[in-house]
Amino acid sequence: MMVNTLNDLQQLEELDKKHFLHPTSPIKQQQESGPSFIFKEGRGIYLEDYKGNVVIDGMSSLWNVNVGHGREELAEVAAEQMKKLAFSSCFATYSNEPAIRLAAKLAQLTTGDLTTTFFTSGGSEANDTAYKLARHYWILKGAPEKKKIISRTKSYHGVSMGATSATGLKPFRDFSSSIAPDFLHVDHFSTDALRERILIEGPETIAAFIAEPVQGAGGVHIAPDDYFKEIREICDFYDILFITDEVITGFGRTGEWFGMNHYGVTPDMMCFAKGVTSGYAQLGGVILSEKMHQDFSDFSSGTLLHGYTYSGHPMACAVALKNIEIIERENLVRHAKEAGDLLLEGFKWIQSERKIVGNVRSLGLMGAIEMIKAREAKSKSPLIVNEAAKRGLICRSVVFDDQDTLVFAPPLTIKKKEIEKMMTILNDAIKSIEESS
Ligand SMILES: Cc1ncc(COP(=O)(O)O)c(C=O)c1O
Repeated sequence: MMVNTLNDLQQLEELDKKHFLHPTSPIKQQQESGPSFIFKEGRGIYLEDYKGNVVIDGMSSLWNVNVGHGREELAEVAAEQMKKLAFSSCFATYSNEPAIRLAAKLAQLTTGDLTTTFFTSGGSEANDTAYKLARHYWILKGAPEKKKIISRTKSYHGVSMGATSATGLKPFRDFSSSIAPDFLHVDHFSTDALRERILIEGPETIAAFIAEPVQGAGGVHIAPDDYFKEIREICDFYDILFITDEVITGFGRTGEWFGMNHYGVTPDMMCFAKGVTSGYAQLGGVILSEKMHQDFSDFSSGTLLHGYTYSGHPMACAVALKNIEIIERENLVRHAKEAGDLLLEGFKWIQSERKIVGNVRSLGLMGAIEMIKAREAKSKSPLIVNEAAKRGLICRSVVFDDQDTLVFAPPLTIKKKEIEKMMTILNDAIKSIEESS
């Protein structure tokens, strides 16, 4: 299929409006105005659309294109694997080499005794898997009443039924009229709130607590230094499993291999997706502690009745292995830390230039700029996102919970000059909204 003329492009836009229901999208605007960009190519931190617009992908698309766009070696490894073995089952005792090698590599990259991976196709499936494994674990250990899952306000865990139910951002839960039972939410930074909730519910009813090391979609919220150590202690004390959702924070995003490394804490289960393949293939999973894995084996009498068709997909796992090799070879984790310092410097410069900018923060290449919001005033961040896009920068606005925040997560490969360019565009975009309000 070729798009050569303006007519071809208009046709494509019409087909989009009529036939493509976009995920997490402003449906009316999408249907009336069509797509704002139809991307055709990506190179490094840049995306290009059919109209010839070239924009900086300041979000790594969905926080996931960690190694940047246009990596031919990832395309090549996918093609090689598909030619050799595109798919075979991993159910029962069947296996394949890329899945085995990736599981072993993840055990090496993670801290503590996280040794054993269950693969999924993405982050929501990973989180649902972790909830089900937690509940199944307690059934096997003779405590079937331990089934409640506690998560945090401002959290985002995905859109499958369990993941939506765990998500702390209420509009996602309100999207459908009924969510899954036994999901509870506590204040995102308060360990006391967790303790109180455990005591109210009774620890004998709680299966697990789940948290993102840095909350992403909820507005890039970075926990206080001691928060997760205390969380680990609380979970240990009450015999509650601790699950980390590293779907965004994994694979170098925060300037460490995993977000929880900043806090020196190892969970019982770690969920991952996105950056594991930098979005070049659909893959996620849950890495279990050696103890949990051993307990599953020791206490189970039958089949582990949980599995997706694409659990351990050979092509996706081969892409992940190559993606991890690139991150290692190019020292992208260290680079993300250094580039993250520059990003924060840039944010601070904008803060000093623009009077509507409030708090700025980042951890590695996950950052946020808050707008100072007068009560009842209209949010400015969505307008800034539109302005920035026109000027060549894609970023995202978060307006949940009365926030008015811009969030950023550029590819880990971003260079100093590119950060400077990003900051210039951003400053100009904020200035134009500042002057028009
Ligand atoms: C922290 C976190 N967990 C889970 C998910 C869901 O992942 P997926 O969209 O791959 O199902 C996301 C997606 O943005 C996420 O940010």
